[in-house]
Amino acid sequence: MEVEPDKIKKHITGLEVMERQHKQLHRRLRGLAEVLAAAEGGNGDPDALEGMPDQIDVLVDNIRVHFRAEEDVMSFHGYPQAETHRAAHGHFLEAVDKLLAQCGDCDLGGLRDVVDFLGGWLSTHVGKQDQMFKEFQESQAS
Ligand SMILES: [Fe+2]
Ligand SMILES: [Fe+2]
Repeated sequence: MEVEPDKIKKHITGLEVMERQHKQLHRRLRGLAEVLAAAEGGNGDPDALEGMPDQIDVLVDNIRVHFRAEEDVMSFHGYPQAETHRAAHGHFLEAVDKLLAQCGDCDLGGLRDVVDFLGGWLSTHVGKQDQMFKEFQESQAS
């Protein structure tokens, strides 16, 4: 099957952008987890800890941007599981909103709950549903 150059370009760009965004999200999460671990160990940076709710907001914004980009690429490729995947993103964002609303001015334990939830969900989602989409994309390009 012959694939038009534009489609190849979009395919490569979509894959690259998603992988780059996944790395950025994981890097941000690692940074938050390190601040928390230091605080839990009794030698944390009080300024970093105080700034953590804002950092979590930035991370969640980045996740929203990433989801939109990923959903655009799924639509472009006519991915058959796009609706299920989009719904998973939506349920996650609802759960995050609820968790953050409950947290308010989180104490250390509350921040740990939020960071663990974000990290756990993202790792599982990227490893399963995003991986399924990646494999679909790759099958389309070959
Ligand atoms: Fe996804
Ligand atoms: Fe993703």
